[in-house]
Amino acid sequence: MKNEYILPNKEAARRRTKEESQVKRELFALSSDIKDLGIGKNYFIRTYGCQANFHDSEVIAGILEDMGFKSTDHLEEADVILLNTCAIRQNAEEKVLGELGNLKKLKRANPDLIIAMSGCMAQEEGMVKTILMKYPQVDLVFGTHNIYNLPKLLYQAMLAKEKTIEVFSKEGDIVESLPYKRDNRHKAWVNISYGCDKFCSYCIVPYTRGKERSRHMEDILDEVKELKEAGYKEVTLLGQNVNSYGLDLKMEHGFADLLEEVAKIGIPRVRFMTPYPSNFDDEAIEVCSHYKNIMPTIHLPLQSGSDKILFKMNRRYDSEAYRTVFDKIKAKIEGCAFTTDIIVGFPNESDEDFKKTLEMVDYCKYDNAYTFIYSKREGTPAAAIEDHIPMHVKEERLQILNAKIAHYANLNNQRFQDQIVEVLVDGASKRDKNVFSGYTPESKLVNFTGDCKVGEIRKVQITKAKSFSLDGKVIEE
Ligand code: 5AD
Ligand code: SF4
Repeated sequence: MKNEYILPNKEAARRRTKEESQVKRELFALSSDIKDLGIGKNYFIRTYGCQANFHDSEVIAGILEDMGFKSTDHLEEADVILLNTCAIRQNAEEKVLGELGNLKKLKRANPDLIIAMSGCMAQEEGMVKTILMKYPQVDLVFGTHNIYNLPKLLYQAMLAKEKTIEVFSKEGDIVESLPYKRDNRHKAWVNISYGCDKFCSYCIVPYTRGKERSRHMEDILDEVKELKEAGYKEVTLLGQNVNSYGLDLKMEHGFADLLEEVAKIGIPRVRFMTPYPSNFDDEAIEVCSHYKNIMPTIHLPLQSGSDKILFKMNRRYDSEAYRTVFDKIKAKIEGCAFTTDIIVGFPNESDEDFKKTLEMVDYCKYDNAYTFIYSKREGTPAAAIEDHIPMHVKEERLQILNAKIAHYANLNNQRFQDQIVEVLVDGASKRDKNVFSGYTPESKLVNFTGDCKVGEIRKVQITKAKSFSLDGKVIEE
């Protein structure tokens, strides 16, 4: 009998109910026929997009290794190639489609090769139709809610040799029992919540990652305790909107309470990504300012400085509310570094609107920013707006904005010139094997020389402050 596809569904992805999400602890189990499927075989994963996706790849790698597969860095040696994809902007999708095109050659040379696709692109109804029609080399597509079922799906694709597609568009459960293989032995990602209920008018994430659902606090704390015992130096709490943590579990100050409990475990460095400006309550700010192991870096997405555009984006704050939160954090957290996300060229953004964004950058003087040209995402409300702004205007705005960001990045970094900073040693720098690199509490990238080991937190004297990094040397103690 022909394998039945479970395809993504736009309407179902949009739906939200008031029902609490189910925590599933028993979903993941390997039957004996599946358990050894990967013995003697290699897998290769390429990840696109955000930290949530990178952490999903760690889970997928954990599952594959439980099945006996070994990781390889060489595409040619792989028996399973997985692209864990991102749908946030069109160029992210184009990269993946280009890569799928390149993989065709490998598939032709080795018909037993399994090419799989997961992540946010797999959650898009139109995209999966395109894959079915134009990319026959793809054997397996599974969604962000289907990771737990990977062993069964892979079995079907490998042994039954059938194209396999399983993408649920439901609101989402929380699956607790999955294994993972962490990429880093000193720094770890810890999911605190999944999904997003904000529905910003430009954004595809609420459709690809489902309803906002918080993990239970005990599960998160147990994970952080295990990480501490294993010698981890840093955890980053992850969620699309970390500071709405616990709202679905009827907690009043869920994020503040969670952050405090995590800080008390005593791991040397605690970070979190990404807070939503208007969900940042005084309690959470207070906790951040009180615990020295909560790092003084706040990523506070602005998106636009224009109230008109913020309203059209369905962001739930205006420029004044943003400034108020920003000011409170700045006043309370000593030496706090700020980063942000900004979109230019949202449909019909005027010169005046863009000027307001620049004014906000002048006000906040960010340490750094991720800046993007608006990208139309099919199925989002903004995609229906007729846009009259030509692309060259958007590109010019991006350049102007980036120059301003670079100016403040440099200005902010100058405060570290000749200072002594604490750096968590990541490893050899990308450019020079004899130079180490790592990050300060403020998330400043430092390239430095001296005698040290990966995973240590060391004092480094800064010798040169540049726009986007610092140079220095280790202080011998
Ligand atoms: N176009 C451009 N940028 C986008 N982002 C999200 N959706 C879009 C889009 N359609 C940006 C936002 C968000 C970051 C992760 O990506 O700035 O904060
Ligand atoms: Fe992450 Fe968003 Fe990309 Fe999905 S679309 S992988 S949530 S950045």
